[in-house]
Amino acid sequence: MAIKPIVDYPAAVLLEPGEPVVNFNSELEQLTRDMFETMYDARGVGLAAQQIGLPLRLFVMDCDGIKLVAANPEVISAEGEQDGEEGCLSVGAIHADLKRAAKVKLRAQDVTGKVFEKEVTGLAARCFLHETDHNDGILFIRHLSPLRRDLLIRKFRKMKKNAE
Ligand code: NI
Repeated sequence: MAIKPIVDYPAAVLLEPGEPVVNFNSELEQLTRDMFETMYDARGVGLAAQQIGLPLRLFVMDCDGIKLVAANPEVISAEGEQDGEEGCLSVGAIHADLKRAAKVKLRAQDVTGKVFEKEVTGLAARCFLHETDHNDGILFIRHLSPLRRDLLIRKFRKMKKNAE
């Protein structure tokens, strides 16, 4: 097991859609174990492969009692609306209010390649959308208005610079 360094904005891997997962083998199993370990170490509730520098359609999450591995995730339905604060391990300590669907159904493959569907609400729904977005090369700040996005990016750059 290994904790991997987390890639942060504006790394190219975070901004491009990932490749499908095709090999469901022991290497993938090891990778997802490393992703869970990295996520827990960073006190996150979800982590996409892009965040450790891999352009793959794969994420792990442990959020609101729902722990799973999702390969090749697809949001197949999204209903309603929820308000809430969202952040991302790849955008430091920056958080923003962001409306998301309240109820989301995901279709994905587990670590063995078996297809599953799962419908969740609340924080877990937010997590499904956030992580599937990562696999599509989309960061949560993309959903904000250009003005709010620019403000947050400036704040993040400043924080990053001060941390150096
Ligand atoms: Ni994120």
